[in-house]
Amino acid sequence: MLLSGAWFIAAALLAILVLAIGCRPPWCFWTRNYNAKNDAGGNDRKFKTERDVPGPFALPILGTRWMYSRFGYYRMNKLHEAYKDLNRRYGSLCKEEALWNYPVISVFSSGDINTILKRNSKYPLRPPQEVISYYRRSRRDRYTNLGLVNEQGVTWQKLRVALTPALTGSGTVSGFFPALNTVTDEFIDLIVSERATNSTVRGFEDLAYRMGLESTCTLILGRHLGFLKPDSSNILTKRLAEAVRIHFMASRDAFYGLPLWKLLPTSAYKQLIESEDTIYNIISELVETTIREKEDEAKDESVEAVFLSILGQKNLDIRDKKAAIVDFIAAGIHTLGNTLVFLFDLIGRNPQVQATLYEEVLSLAPPGCDLTEADLRTADYLRACISESFRILPTTPCIARILDEPIELEKYHLNAGTVVLLHTWIAGLDDKNFKDASKYLPERWMTTMKPHSPLLVAPFGAGKRICPGKRFVELALRLIVAKIVREFEIVVQEELNLEFEFILAPRSPVSLGFQDRLSRTETT
Ligand code: HEM
Repeated sequence: MLLSGAWFIAAALLAILVLAIGCRPPWCFWTRNYNAKNDAGGNDRKFKTERDVPGPFALPILGTRWMYSRFGYYRMNKLHEAYKDLNRRYGSLCKEEALWNYPVISVFSSGDINTILKRNSKYPLRPPQEVISYYRRSRRDRYTNLGLVNEQGVTWQKLRVALTPALTGSGTVSGFFPALNTVTDEFIDLIVSERATNSTVRGFEDLAYRMGLESTCTLILGRHLGFLKPDSSNILTKRLAEAVRIHFMASRDAFYGLPLWKLLPTSAYKQLIESEDTIYNIISELVETTIREKEDEAKDESVEAVFLSILGQKNLDIRDKKAAIVDFIAAGIHTLGNTLVFLFDLIGRNPQVQATLYEEVLSLAPPGCDLTEADLRTADYLRACISESFRILPTTPCIARILDEPIELEKYHLNAGTVVLLHTWIAGLDDKNFKDASKYLPERWMTTMKPHSPLLVAPFGAGKRICPGKRFVELALRLIVAKIVREFEIVVQEELNLEFEFILAPRSPVSLGFQDRLSRTETT
Protein backbone atom coordinates (compact mmCIF):
# COMPACT_ATOMS: atom_id res chain seq x y z
CA MET A 1 0.00 0.00 0.00
CA LEU A 2 2.81 2.35 1.04
CA LEU A 3 4.75 1.48 -2.04
CA SER A 4 1.82 2.13 -4.31
CA GLY A 5 1.33 5.47 -2.51
CA ALA A 6 4.99 6.33 -3.13
CA TRP A 7 4.65 5.32 -6.76
CA PHE A 8 1.60 7.50 -7.03
CA ILE A 9 3.46 10.50 -5.61
CA ALA A 10 6.46 9.82 -7.85
CA ALA A 11 4.20 9.53 -10.89
CA ALA A 12 2.41 12.75 -9.92
CA LEU A 13 5.73 14.60 -9.52
CA LEU A 14 6.94 13.26 -12.84
CA ALA A 15 3.69 14.35 -14.48
CA ILE A 16 4.07 17.86 -13.01
CA LEU A 17 7.64 18.01 -14.29
CA VAL A 18 6.71 16.84 -17.77
CA LEU A 19 3.77 19.20 -17.76
CA ALA A 20 5.88 22.08 -16.64
CA ILE A 21 8.65 21.47 -19.15
CA GLY A 22 6.21 21.04 -21.99
CA CYS A 23 4.24 24.07 -20.98
CA ARG A 24 6.52 27.02 -21.40
CA PRO A 25 4.34 29.67 -22.92
CA PRO A 26 5.11 30.11 -26.61
CA TRP A 27 5.98 33.81 -26.27
CA CYS A 28 9.19 33.02 -24.40
CA PHE A 29 10.42 31.69 -27.76
CA TRP A 30 8.91 34.37 -30.01
CA THR A 31 10.36 37.38 -28.28
CA ARG A 32 13.80 36.07 -29.13
CA ASN A 33 12.88 36.41 -32.79
CA TYR A 34 10.96 39.68 -32.79
CA ASN A 35 12.95 41.62 -30.34
CA ALA A 36 16.31 42.93 -31.38
CA LYS A 37 17.00 44.98 -28.27
CA ASN A 38 16.25 42.62 -25.44
CA ASP A 39 18.50 43.58 -22.61
CA ALA A 40 17.93 40.60 -20.38
CA GLY A 41 21.63 39.84 -20.03
CA GLY A 42 24.04 40.49 -17.22
CA ASN A 43 22.65 43.91 -16.31
CA ASP A 44 19.44 42.39 -15.02
CA ARG A 45 20.20 42.19 -11.37
CA LYS A 46 21.49 45.78 -11.18
CA PHE A 47 17.91 46.94 -11.53
CA LYS A 48 14.73 45.74 -10.05
CA THR A 49 13.13 43.57 -12.72
CA GLU A 50 9.68 42.11 -13.29
CA ARG A 51 10.67 39.36 -10.85
CA ASP A 52 10.80 41.97 -8.05
CA VAL A 53 7.32 43.41 -8.65
CA PRO A 54 5.20 42.67 -5.55
CA GLY A 55 2.49 40.08 -5.81
CA PRO A 56 0.82 37.11 -4.14
CA PHE A 57 2.73 34.06 -2.93
CA ALA A 58 4.00 31.91 -5.79
CA LEU A 59 4.67 28.17 -5.62
CA PRO A 60 7.73 26.80 -7.39
CA ILE A 61 6.81 25.79 -10.95
CA LEU A 62 3.07 26.25 -10.42
CA GLY A 63 3.31 29.99 -9.76
CA THR A 64 0.28 31.87 -8.44
CA ARG A 65 -2.44 30.06 -10.41
CA TRP A 66 -3.35 28.20 -7.22
CA MET A 67 -5.21 31.40 -6.17
CA TYR A 68 -7.97 30.53 -8.63
CA SER A 69 -8.12 26.84 -7.69
CA ARG A 70 -10.36 25.36 -5.00
CA PHE A 71 -7.54 26.00 -2.47
CA GLY A 72 -7.32 29.67 -3.37
CA TYR A 73 -9.31 32.72 -2.37
CA TYR A 74 -10.45 33.98 -5.78
CA ARG A 75 -13.01 32.52 -8.16
CA MET A 76 -12.50 32.46 -11.91
CA ASN A 77 -15.99 33.79 -12.61
CA LYS A 78 -15.15 36.78 -10.38
CA LEU A 79 -11.71 37.59 -11.76
CA HIS A 80 -12.73 41.20 -12.27
CA GLU A 81 -13.10 41.47 -8.48
CA ALA A 82 -9.86 39.57 -7.90
CA TYR A 83 -7.94 42.20 -9.88
CA LYS A 84 -9.52 45.03 -7.90
CA ASP A 85 -8.34 43.26 -4.76
CA LEU A 86 -4.82 42.68 -6.13
CA ASN A 87 -4.62 46.39 -6.99
CA ARG A 88 -5.70 47.30 -3.47
CA ARG A 89 -3.17 44.93 -1.87
CA TYR A 90 -0.10 45.45 -4.05
CA GLY A 91 -0.49 48.88 -5.62
CA SER A 92 -0.06 50.05 -9.19
CA LEU A 93 2.00 47.06 -10.40
CA CYS A 94 1.30 43.50 -9.34
CA LYS A 95 3.00 40.30 -10.39
CA GLU A 96 1.28 36.97 -10.91
CA GLU A 97 3.25 33.94 -12.03
CA ALA A 98 1.99 31.54 -14.66
CA LEU A 99 3.22 27.98 -14.92
CA TRP A 100 7.00 27.63 -14.70
CA ASN A 101 6.91 30.96 -12.86
CA TYR A 102 6.56 33.13 -15.96
CA PRO A 103 5.71 36.64 -14.78
CA VAL A 104 2.41 38.26 -15.72
CA ILE A 105 2.36 41.90 -14.63
CA SER A 106 -0.92 43.70 -13.96
CA VAL A 107 -0.63 47.42 -14.66
CA PHE A 108 -3.15 49.67 -12.93
CA SER A 109 -1.85 53.23 -13.22
CA SER A 110 -2.89 55.55 -16.00
CA GLY A 111 0.68 56.72 -16.68
CA ASP A 112 2.07 53.17 -16.99
CA ILE A 113 -0.82 52.02 -19.19
CA ASN A 114 -0.27 54.95 -21.54
CA THR A 115 3.49 54.37 -21.64
CA ILE A 116 2.94 50.81 -22.87
CA LEU A 117 0.15 51.66 -25.30
CA LYS A 118 2.15 54.46 -26.90
CA ARG A 119 4.97 52.13 -27.94
CA ASN A 120 4.79 51.54 -31.62
CA SER A 121 5.67 47.90 -32.25
CA LYS A 122 5.80 46.60 -35.78
CA TYR A 123 3.93 43.45 -34.77
CA PRO A 124 2.25 43.99 -31.40
CA LEU A 125 2.07 40.71 -29.54
CA ARG A 126 -1.07 39.63 -27.69
CA PRO A 127 -1.03 36.41 -25.62
CA PRO A 128 -2.80 33.81 -27.74
CA GLN A 129 -5.46 31.38 -26.58
CA GLU A 130 -3.09 28.46 -26.33
CA VAL A 131 -5.70 25.72 -26.48
CA ILE A 132 -7.25 27.13 -29.64
CA SER A 133 -3.82 27.45 -31.21
CA TYR A 134 -3.04 23.84 -30.27
CA TYR A 135 -6.36 22.60 -31.66
CA ARG A 136 -6.13 24.58 -34.90
CA ARG A 137 -2.67 23.23 -35.57
CA SER A 138 -4.17 19.74 -35.41
CA ARG A 139 -6.92 20.60 -37.96
CA ARG A 140 -5.06 21.36 -41.16
CA ASP A 141 -8.22 20.38 -43.04
CA ARG A 142 -9.82 23.56 -41.66
CA TYR A 143 -7.03 25.94 -40.76
CA THR A 144 -3.74 26.87 -42.39
CA ASN A 145 -2.88 29.21 -39.50
CA LEU A 146 -4.18 30.23 -36.06
CA GLY A 147 -6.43 33.03 -37.30
CA LEU A 148 -6.25 36.81 -36.88
CA VAL A 149 -6.97 36.75 -33.15
CA ASN A 150 -4.21 34.29 -32.24
CA GLU A 151 -1.56 34.76 -34.94
CA GLN A 152 1.56 36.86 -34.38
CA GLY A 153 4.25 38.56 -36.43
CA VAL A 154 4.38 38.44 -40.21
CA THR A 155 1.48 35.94 -40.54
CA TRP A 156 -0.74 38.15 -38.37
CA GLN A 157 0.13 41.20 -40.48
CA LYS A 158 -0.59 39.35 -43.73
CA LEU A 159 -4.03 38.31 -42.42
CA ARG A 160 -4.76 41.78 -41.03
CA VAL A 161 -3.91 43.48 -44.35
CA ALA A 162 -5.93 41.00 -46.39
CA LEU A 163 -9.00 40.58 -44.20
CA THR A 164 -9.81 43.83 -42.46
CA PRO A 165 -9.79 46.82 -44.87
CA ALA A 166 -13.34 46.16 -46.09
CA LEU A 167 -14.53 45.76 -42.50
CA THR A 168 -12.91 48.94 -41.24
CA GLY A 169 -13.56 51.17 -44.27
CA SER A 170 -16.08 54.01 -43.84
CA GLY A 171 -17.72 53.13 -47.17
CA THR A 172 -18.63 49.62 -46.03
CA VAL A 173 -20.26 50.72 -42.83
CA SER A 174 -22.19 53.48 -44.65
CA GLY A 175 -23.38 51.03 -47.31
CA PHE A 176 -24.58 48.77 -44.55
CA PHE A 177 -26.50 51.52 -42.72
CA PRO A 178 -29.97 50.99 -44.31
CA ALA A 179 -29.75 47.26 -43.52
CA LEU A 180 -28.82 48.15 -39.95
CA ASN A 181 -31.95 50.33 -39.67
CA THR A 182 -34.07 47.32 -40.70
CA VAL A 183 -32.32 44.99 -38.25
CA THR A 184 -32.85 47.51 -35.43
CA ASP A 185 -36.58 47.70 -36.24
CA GLU A 186 -36.75 43.91 -36.04
CA PHE A 187 -35.02 44.08 -32.65
CA ILE A 188 -37.68 46.54 -31.45
CA ASP A 189 -40.46 44.21 -32.68
CA LEU A 190 -38.78 41.33 -30.89
CA ILE A 191 -38.64 43.28 -27.61
CA VAL A 192 -42.35 44.10 -27.97
CA SER A 193 -43.23 40.47 -28.58
CA GLU A 194 -41.16 39.19 -25.65
CA ARG A 195 -42.48 41.67 -23.06
CA ALA A 196 -44.63 40.39 -20.23
CA THR A 197 -47.76 42.36 -19.27
CA ASN A 198 -45.70 44.61 -16.99
CA SER A 199 -43.43 45.50 -19.95
CA THR A 200 -40.53 43.49 -18.56
CA VAL A 201 -38.36 41.27 -20.69
CA ARG A 202 -36.86 38.50 -18.60
CA GLY A 203 -33.72 37.02 -20.12
CA PHE A 204 -33.04 40.18 -22.12
CA GLU A 205 -29.46 39.02 -22.71
CA ASP A 206 -30.74 36.31 -25.11
CA LEU A 207 -32.41 38.97 -27.23
CA ALA A 208 -29.23 41.03 -27.14
CA TYR A 209 -27.18 38.03 -28.37
CA ARG A 210 -29.67 37.50 -31.19
CA MET A 211 -29.19 41.15 -32.11
CA GLY A 212 -25.41 40.71 -31.97
CA LEU A 213 -25.65 37.70 -34.25
CA GLU A 214 -28.12 39.15 -36.75
CA SER A 215 -26.35 42.48 -37.12
CA THR A 216 -22.88 40.93 -37.41
CA CYS A 217 -24.13 38.37 -39.96
CA THR A 218 -25.79 41.14 -41.96
CA LEU A 219 -22.51 43.05 -41.98
CA ILE A 220 -20.24 40.12 -42.76
CA LEU A 221 -22.45 37.95 -45.00
CA GLY A 222 -24.54 40.75 -46.49
CA ARG A 223 -27.86 39.00 -45.85
CA HIS A 224 -30.61 38.98 -43.23
CA LEU A 225 -30.82 35.64 -41.51
CA GLY A 226 -34.02 36.11 -39.53
CA PHE A 227 -32.55 35.49 -36.06
CA LEU A 228 -34.73 38.33 -34.72
CA LYS A 229 -38.05 37.14 -36.10
CA PRO A 230 -40.35 36.69 -33.08
CA ASP A 231 -42.03 33.65 -34.60
CA SER A 232 -38.82 32.06 -35.86
CA SER A 233 -37.35 29.15 -34.04
CA ASN A 234 -34.22 30.50 -32.44
CA ILE A 235 -32.70 27.10 -31.62
CA LEU A 236 -29.79 27.78 -33.94
CA THR A 237 -29.09 31.16 -32.33
CA LYS A 238 -29.32 29.65 -28.87
CA ARG A 239 -26.86 26.88 -29.82
CA LEU A 240 -24.51 29.36 -31.38
CA ALA A 241 -24.74 31.89 -28.54
CA GLU A 242 -24.24 29.11 -25.98
CA ALA A 243 -21.25 27.75 -27.90
CA VAL A 244 -19.69 31.23 -27.99
CA ARG A 245 -20.28 31.63 -24.24
CA ILE A 246 -18.70 28.25 -23.46
CA HIS A 247 -15.84 29.13 -25.77
CA PHE A 248 -15.12 32.34 -23.84
CA MET A 249 -15.38 30.61 -20.45
CA ALA A 250 -13.25 27.63 -21.43
CA SER A 251 -10.66 30.07 -22.84
CA ARG A 252 -10.66 31.80 -19.45
CA ASP A 253 -10.23 28.47 -17.60
CA ALA A 254 -7.45 27.40 -19.93
CA PHE A 255 -5.69 30.79 -19.62
CA TYR A 256 -5.91 31.09 -15.84
CA GLY A 257 -5.82 27.41 -14.92
CA LEU A 258 -3.04 24.86 -15.19
CA PRO A 259 -2.56 23.54 -18.73
CA LEU A 260 -3.39 19.97 -17.76
CA TRP A 261 -5.01 19.66 -21.18
CA LYS A 262 -1.53 19.17 -22.59
CA LEU A 263 -1.41 15.84 -20.76
CA LEU A 264 -5.00 14.66 -20.94
CA PRO A 265 -8.24 15.96 -22.42
CA THR A 266 -9.64 17.88 -19.45
CA SER A 267 -13.27 18.95 -19.38
CA ALA A 268 -12.29 22.59 -20.16
CA TYR A 269 -10.38 21.31 -23.20
CA LYS A 270 -13.25 19.11 -24.39
CA GLN A 271 -15.72 21.95 -23.96
CA LEU A 272 -13.53 24.35 -25.83
CA ILE A 273 -13.04 21.98 -28.76
CA GLU A 274 -16.72 21.10 -28.87
CA SER A 275 -17.74 24.76 -28.85
CA GLU A 276 -15.10 25.62 -31.46
CA ASP A 277 -16.52 22.87 -33.70
CA THR A 278 -20.14 23.93 -33.11
CA ILE A 279 -19.35 27.53 -33.99
CA TYR A 280 -17.38 26.49 -37.06
CA ASN A 281 -20.04 24.05 -38.30
CA ILE A 282 -23.00 26.41 -37.88
CA ILE A 283 -21.33 29.48 -39.37
CA SER A 284 -19.65 27.52 -42.11
CA GLU A 285 -23.08 26.21 -43.18
CA LEU A 286 -24.33 29.81 -43.29
CA VAL A 287 -21.34 30.77 -45.41
CA GLU A 288 -21.94 27.89 -47.86
CA THR A 289 -25.62 28.79 -48.18
CA THR A 290 -24.70 32.43 -48.74
CA ILE A 291 -22.24 31.48 -51.49
CA ARG A 292 -24.86 29.25 -53.20
CA GLU A 293 -27.64 31.83 -52.96
CA LYS A 294 -25.46 34.67 -54.17
CA GLU A 295 -24.69 32.81 -57.37
CA ASP A 296 -28.40 33.10 -58.28
CA GLU A 297 -29.21 36.56 -56.92
CA ALA A 298 -28.57 40.04 -58.23
CA LYS A 299 -25.75 41.49 -56.15
CA ASP A 300 -26.05 44.46 -53.84
CA GLU A 301 -22.36 45.11 -53.50
CA SER A 302 -22.67 47.88 -50.93
CA VAL A 303 -24.11 45.42 -48.40
CA GLU A 304 -21.91 42.51 -49.43
CA ALA A 305 -18.62 44.39 -49.33
CA VAL A 306 -17.03 42.43 -46.48
CA PHE A 307 -18.03 39.02 -47.75
CA LEU A 308 -17.00 39.75 -51.32
CA SER A 309 -13.75 41.33 -50.29
CA ILE A 310 -12.76 38.33 -48.15
CA LEU A 311 -13.79 35.79 -50.79
CA GLY A 312 -12.02 37.81 -53.48
CA GLN A 313 -8.60 37.71 -51.77
CA LYS A 314 -6.32 36.04 -54.28
CA ASN A 315 -3.43 35.17 -52.01
CA LEU A 316 -5.45 33.53 -49.26
CA ASP A 317 -6.42 29.89 -49.06
CA ILE A 318 -10.20 29.21 -48.99
CA ARG A 319 -9.68 27.76 -45.49
CA ASP A 320 -8.32 31.13 -44.30
CA LYS A 321 -11.29 32.97 -45.80
CA LYS A 322 -13.83 30.69 -44.20
CA ALA A 323 -12.06 30.71 -40.83
CA ALA A 324 -11.94 34.53 -40.92
CA ILE A 325 -15.68 34.82 -41.57
CA VAL A 326 -16.35 32.36 -38.73
CA ASP A 327 -14.06 34.31 -36.37
CA PHE A 328 -15.60 37.69 -37.28
CA ILE A 329 -19.15 36.52 -36.68
CA ALA A 330 -18.25 34.74 -33.45
CA ALA A 331 -16.40 37.89 -32.27
CA GLY A 332 -19.56 39.98 -32.59
CA ILE A 333 -22.23 37.93 -30.80
CA HIS A 334 -21.38 38.23 -27.12
CA THR A 335 -19.28 41.38 -27.22
CA LEU A 336 -22.11 43.31 -28.84
CA GLY A 337 -24.81 41.54 -26.80
CA ASN A 338 -23.16 42.24 -23.43
CA THR A 339 -22.41 45.82 -24.42
CA LEU A 340 -26.12 46.38 -25.16
CA VAL A 341 -27.14 44.92 -21.80
CA PHE A 342 -24.68 47.20 -19.97
CA LEU A 343 -25.75 50.27 -21.92
CA PHE A 344 -29.46 49.80 -21.33
CA ASP A 345 -28.88 48.99 -17.68
CA LEU A 346 -26.86 52.17 -17.09
CA ILE A 347 -29.26 54.40 -19.03
CA GLY A 348 -32.27 52.86 -17.24
CA ARG A 349 -30.62 53.29 -13.86
CA ASN A 350 -30.08 57.03 -14.45
CA PRO A 351 -33.49 58.63 -15.19
CA GLN A 352 -32.08 62.14 -15.64
CA VAL A 353 -29.62 60.90 -18.25
CA GLN A 354 -32.39 58.99 -19.98
CA ALA A 355 -34.61 62.09 -20.09
CA THR A 356 -31.85 64.21 -21.69
CA LEU A 357 -31.03 61.45 -24.15
CA TYR A 358 -34.70 61.04 -25.06
CA GLU A 359 -34.99 64.74 -25.87
CA GLU A 360 -31.95 64.56 -28.09
CA VAL A 361 -32.96 61.44 -30.06
CA LEU A 362 -36.52 62.73 -30.48
CA SER A 363 -35.13 65.86 -32.09
CA LEU A 364 -33.28 63.76 -34.71
CA ALA A 365 -36.40 62.28 -36.35
CA PRO A 366 -39.89 61.34 -35.12
CA PRO A 367 -40.55 57.84 -33.74
CA GLY A 368 -40.94 55.19 -36.42
CA CYS A 369 -38.68 57.04 -38.89
CA ASP A 370 -35.30 55.75 -39.93
CA LEU A 371 -32.23 57.64 -38.77
CA THR A 372 -29.37 58.58 -41.05
CA GLU A 373 -25.66 58.57 -40.38
CA ALA A 374 -25.76 62.38 -40.59
CA ASP A 375 -28.47 62.46 -37.85
CA LEU A 376 -26.28 60.38 -35.59
CA ARG A 377 -23.25 62.57 -36.19
CA THR A 378 -25.07 65.47 -34.53
CA ALA A 379 -26.12 63.41 -31.48
CA ASP A 380 -23.35 64.39 -29.06
CA TYR A 381 -25.13 63.35 -25.88
CA LEU A 382 -25.83 59.89 -27.33
CA ARG A 383 -22.14 59.47 -28.09
CA ALA A 384 -21.27 60.67 -24.59
CA CYS A 385 -23.66 58.10 -23.04
CA ILE A 386 -21.92 55.31 -24.95
CA SER A 387 -18.41 56.46 -23.99
CA GLU A 388 -19.47 56.75 -20.37
CA SER A 389 -20.98 53.25 -20.43
CA PHE A 390 -17.72 51.86 -21.78
CA ARG A 391 -15.90 53.58 -18.92
CA ILE A 392 -18.18 52.27 -16.19
CA LEU A 393 -18.92 48.81 -17.61
CA PRO A 394 -16.72 47.79 -20.54
CA THR A 395 -17.14 44.35 -22.07
CA THR A 396 -13.36 43.98 -22.25
CA PRO A 397 -11.89 45.22 -18.96
CA CYS A 398 -8.22 45.01 -19.89
CA ILE A 399 -5.82 44.93 -22.82
CA ALA A 400 -3.19 42.18 -22.89
CA ARG A 401 0.24 42.47 -24.48
CA ILE A 402 3.57 40.69 -24.48
CA LEU A 403 6.45 43.15 -24.33
CA ASP A 404 8.58 42.80 -27.44
CA GLU A 405 11.20 45.15 -26.05
CA PRO A 406 12.31 45.90 -22.49
CA ILE A 407 10.63 48.84 -20.75
CA GLU A 408 11.17 50.87 -17.59
CA LEU A 409 8.03 51.19 -15.47
CA GLU A 410 8.24 53.01 -12.17
CA LYS A 411 11.39 51.59 -10.60
CA TYR A 412 11.28 48.30 -12.53
CA HIS A 413 12.97 47.14 -15.68
CA LEU A 414 10.56 44.75 -17.40
CA ASN A 415 12.21 42.42 -19.87
CA ALA A 416 10.94 41.54 -23.32
CA GLY A 417 8.68 38.51 -23.15
CA THR A 418 6.87 39.71 -20.03
CA VAL A 419 3.09 39.52 -20.28
CA VAL A 420 1.38 42.73 -19.21
CA LEU A 421 -2.33 43.12 -18.45
CA LEU A 422 -3.36 46.76 -18.80
CA HIS A 423 -6.34 47.25 -16.50
CA THR A 424 -8.02 50.15 -18.27
CA TRP A 425 -11.35 49.52 -16.53
CA ILE A 426 -9.98 49.61 -12.98
CA ALA A 427 -7.88 52.71 -13.78
CA GLY A 428 -10.93 54.37 -15.35
CA LEU A 429 -12.86 53.97 -12.09
CA ASP A 430 -10.17 55.73 -10.06
CA ASP A 431 -10.90 59.29 -8.88
CA LYS A 432 -7.30 60.16 -9.78
CA ASN A 433 -8.20 59.67 -13.45
CA PHE A 434 -11.83 60.79 -13.66
CA LYS A 435 -13.76 63.24 -11.51
CA ASP A 436 -16.43 61.47 -9.43
CA ALA A 437 -15.33 58.32 -11.17
CA SER A 438 -18.03 56.05 -9.76
CA LYS A 439 -20.83 58.26 -11.16
CA TYR A 440 -22.42 57.77 -14.58
CA LEU A 441 -21.93 61.27 -15.97
CA PRO A 442 -22.08 61.45 -19.80
CA GLU A 443 -21.62 65.23 -19.44
CA ARG A 444 -17.91 64.67 -18.70
CA TRP A 445 -17.46 63.76 -22.40
CA MET A 446 -19.00 67.07 -23.52
CA THR A 447 -17.35 69.61 -21.23
CA THR A 448 -14.19 68.36 -19.65
CA MET A 449 -14.34 67.83 -15.90
CA LYS A 450 -10.83 67.45 -14.58
CA PRO A 451 -9.27 65.00 -13.94
CA HIS A 452 -10.16 63.34 -17.23
CA SER A 453 -8.08 60.55 -18.86
CA PRO A 454 -9.88 59.62 -22.08
CA LEU A 455 -7.13 57.26 -23.28
CA LEU A 456 -8.16 54.85 -20.53
CA VAL A 457 -11.50 54.29 -22.21
CA ALA A 458 -10.24 51.86 -24.83
CA PRO A 459 -13.04 49.27 -25.15
CA PHE A 460 -11.72 48.11 -28.52
CA GLY A 461 -8.07 47.94 -27.52
CA ALA A 462 -5.41 50.14 -29.08
CA GLY A 463 -2.73 50.41 -31.73
CA LYS A 464 -2.25 48.09 -34.69
CA ARG A 465 -4.14 45.23 -33.04
CA ILE A 466 -7.20 47.34 -32.32
CA CYS A 467 -10.54 45.61 -32.89
CA PRO A 468 -11.40 45.75 -36.61
CA GLY A 469 -15.12 45.72 -35.68
CA LYS A 470 -14.82 49.11 -33.89
CA ARG A 471 -16.28 51.37 -36.59
CA PHE A 472 -19.20 49.04 -37.22
CA VAL A 473 -19.94 48.53 -33.51
CA GLU A 474 -19.79 52.25 -32.68
CA LEU A 475 -22.27 53.10 -35.41
CA ALA A 476 -24.51 50.14 -34.60
CA LEU A 477 -24.63 51.06 -30.90
CA ARG A 478 -25.60 54.66 -31.68
CA LEU A 479 -28.39 53.61 -33.99
CA ILE A 480 -29.74 50.89 -31.69
CA VAL A 481 -29.71 53.07 -28.55
CA ALA A 482 -31.26 56.06 -30.37
CA LYS A 483 -34.11 54.00 -31.79
CA ILE A 484 -34.80 52.07 -28.58
CA VAL A 485 -34.80 55.15 -26.35
CA ARG A 486 -37.13 56.90 -28.82
CA GLU A 487 -39.62 54.03 -28.56
CA PHE A 488 -39.36 52.95 -24.92
CA GLU A 489 -38.56 54.16 -21.46
CA ILE A 490 -36.05 51.69 -20.06
CA VAL A 491 -36.85 50.66 -16.51
CA VAL A 492 -34.40 48.77 -14.30
CA GLN A 493 -35.91 46.73 -11.49
CA GLU A 494 -33.08 44.49 -10.36
CA GLU A 495 -29.38 44.61 -9.51
CA LEU A 496 -27.08 43.68 -12.36
CA ASN A 497 -24.53 41.06 -11.31
CA LEU A 498 -21.34 40.62 -13.25
CA GLU A 499 -19.49 37.45 -14.23
CA PHE A 500 -16.03 37.19 -15.72
CA GLU A 501 -16.32 34.99 -18.82
CA PHE A 502 -12.99 36.12 -20.32
CA ILE A 503 -15.02 39.17 -21.25
CA LEU A 504 -17.27 40.90 -18.74
CA ALA A 505 -20.81 39.50 -18.87
CA PRO A 506 -24.09 40.03 -17.02
CA ARG A 507 -25.25 37.14 -14.87
CA SER A 508 -28.34 35.55 -16.48
CA PRO A 509 -31.21 36.11 -16.52
CA VAL A 510 -31.30 39.89 -16.90
CA SER A 511 -34.71 41.56 -16.46
CA LEU A 512 -35.26 44.93 -18.10
CA GLY A 513 -38.47 46.93 -18.49
CA PHE A 514 -39.32 48.55 -21.84
CA GLN A 515 -42.34 50.82 -21.35
CA ASP A 516 -43.97 52.38 -24.38
CA ARG A 517 -43.41 56.11 -24.78
CA LEU A 518 -46.55 58.15 -25.22
CA SER A 519 -45.73 58.73 -28.89
CA ARG A 520 -45.51 54.99 -29.48
CA THR A 521 -48.88 54.31 -27.77
CA GLU A 522 -50.45 56.94 -30.05
CA THR A 523 -49.01 55.50 -33.27
CA THR A 524 -49.77 51.81 -32.50
C1 HEM B 1 -18.85 45.62 -28.52
C2 HEM B 1 -18.25 44.88 -29.41
C3 HEM B 1 -16.77 44.57 -29.42
C4 HEM B 1 -15.81 44.83 -28.48
C5 HEM B 1 -15.98 45.54 -27.13
C6 HEM B 1 -14.56 44.32 -29.00
C7 HEM B 1 -13.33 44.42 -28.34
C8 HEM B 1 -12.14 43.93 -28.83
C9 HEM B 1 -10.86 44.07 -28.16
C10 HEM B 1 -10.62 44.76 -26.83
C11 HEM B 1 -9.93 43.46 -28.94
C12 HEM B 1 -8.43 43.35 -28.63
C13 HEM B 1 -7.72 44.57 -29.20
C14 HEM B 1 -6.29 44.74 -28.74
O1 HEM B 1 -5.65 43.77 -28.34
O2 HEM B 1 -5.80 45.89 -28.78
C15 HEM B 1 -10.60 42.94 -30.11
C16 HEM B 1 -9.97 42.26 -31.13
C17 HEM B 1 -10.64 41.76 -32.24
N1 HEM B 1 -11.98 41.93 -32.54
FE1 HEM B 1 -13.37 42.90 -31.45
N2 HEM B 1 -14.79 43.73 -30.21
C18 HEM B 1 -16.12 43.87 -30.52
C19 HEM B 1 -16.76 43.45 -31.67
C20 HEM B 1 -16.15 42.84 -32.74
C21 HEM B 1 -16.79 42.53 -33.99
C22 HEM B 1 -18.24 42.83 -34.34
C23 HEM B 1 -15.84 41.92 -34.79
C24 HEM B 1 -15.95 41.43 -36.20
C25 HEM B 1 -16.78 41.90 -37.08
C26 HEM B 1 -14.61 41.85 -34.01
C27 HEM B 1 -13.43 41.27 -34.43
C28 HEM B 1 -12.24 41.29 -33.74
C29 HEM B 1 -10.99 40.68 -34.24
C30 HEM B 1 -10.84 39.87 -35.54
C31 HEM B 1 -9.99 40.98 -33.29
C32 HEM B 1 -8.50 40.59 -33.36
C33 HEM B 1 -7.75 41.70 -34.09
C34 HEM B 1 -6.23 41.48 -34.18
O3 HEM B 1 -5.66 40.84 -33.31
O4 HEM B 1 -5.64 42.01 -35.14
N3 HEM B 1 -14.84 42.43 -32.78
N4 HEM B 1 -11.95 43.26 -30.03
